[in-house]
Amino acid sequence: MGLLPTSFIIIFFTFSLISFAHSVPFIVLHGIGDKCSNRGVTRFTELLSNWSGAPGYCLEIGDGSWDSWTMPLLEQTAIACEKVKSMSELANGYSIVGLSQGNMVGRGIIEFCEGGPAVKNLISLAGPHAGTASVPFCGSGLVCILVDALIRLEIYSSYVQEHLAPSGYIKIPTDIADYLKGCKFLPKLNNEITKNSTYKERFASLENLILIMFDQDAVLIPKETSWFGYYPDGAFTPVLPAQETKLYTEDWIGLKTLDEAGKVKFVNVSGNHLDISQNDMKKYIVPYLEDQASCQHIKTEPPSYRWVSSIRNFFIGLFGLTEDQALLQIL
Ligand SMILES: *[C@@H]1O[C@H](CO)[C@@H](O)[C@H](O)[C@H]1NC(C)=O
Ligand SMILES: *[C@@H]1O[C@H](CO)[C@@H](O)[C@H](O)[C@H]1NC(C)=O
Ligand SMILES: *[C@@H]1O[C@H](CO)[C@@H](O)[C@H](O)[C@H]1NC(C)=O
Repeated sequence: MGLLPTSFIIIFFTFSLISFAHSVPFIVLHGIGDKCSNRGVTRFTELLSNWSGAPGYCLEIGDGSWDSWTMPLLEQTAIACEKVKSMSELANGYSIVGLSQGNMVGRGIIEFCEGGPAVKNLISLAGPHAGTASVPFCGSGLVCILVDALIRLEIYSSYVQEHLAPSGYIKIPTDIADYLKGCKFLPKLNNEITKNSTYKERFASLENLILIMFDQDAVLIPKETSWFGYYPDGAFTPVLPAQETKLYTEDWIGLKTLDEAGKVKFVNVSGNHLDISQNDMKKYIVPYLEDQASCQHIKTEPPSYRWVSSIRNFFIGLFGLTEDQALLQIL
């Protein structure tokens, strides 16, 4: 009898060390007008972390909501780049979960961040990857007084580019010349003017690119931009699928390379902008955050797996953390 508790403790401890040593952490980059201390994004990060077993961090830029509207995306990216470099937790590689505009920063980190830790997976929810033809709805807050005033000015003027973050990825299909000349962020990110092979190499080095589009997305125009689809230059119709855009066919940033290697998943979920269900989070996000290395480890050692799983069930039972209970909670 005296032996049982000892082996119990040792095996449990070993399991903890193994899973800790192999788990790939992730960061969440929130959308416009949001901030890491808000309940929604806090819960979102926590749920993903709880379900996947990977440590997750919401990465804040400046003060969150105000700066997400007003700080140019190159500056936001530079701040995020310094932050990921300073986080020792990420030093062996990490994944990015991007929410809407957060995907612009996420891709900025992947492509522009000199000497940053390796990004393994990008899981993108409603990312305006190919641009958007309208300004996100601001609402009635104080910040919107400024935003509304800026929107009435010329979107590609340097003043607006320096003071309104979304102007960095607004792409008016009937105003491509001004876009290419004035827009400071997306043309660079998508290698639309100079084709920088370093950006392409870095983006093409992702292990997985998960592009989640929301079927009823009323914020991104067109919603297919979440899959790198967009309007042709000069017209608002039709929406070209990614595969028919030059960015893809001429492989400006490595999207085609990734796709041909089977590393891109085009996911369509129902719901409005960012309105993801917990089931879809489990189906389309969690598998890419889960610790594949330690799963393989467990599979090769069936005897200890049985122990581990019964011990895990014991703890799950102890704390009442059944999957069903977690499912009932809303984001
Ligand atoms: C995640 O797990 C922790 C620890 O078990 C728990 O306290 C927390 O409430 C969980 N978070 C959510 C959002 O379910
Ligand atoms: C491409 O980007 C890299 C990294 O930022 C930079 O060092 C290089 O000068 C750029 N090359 C061109 C042709 O702009
Ligand atoms: C996305 O899913 C909806 C509902 O299941 C479907 O009607 C729609 O055609 C799908 N869109 C694409 C592009 O697959």
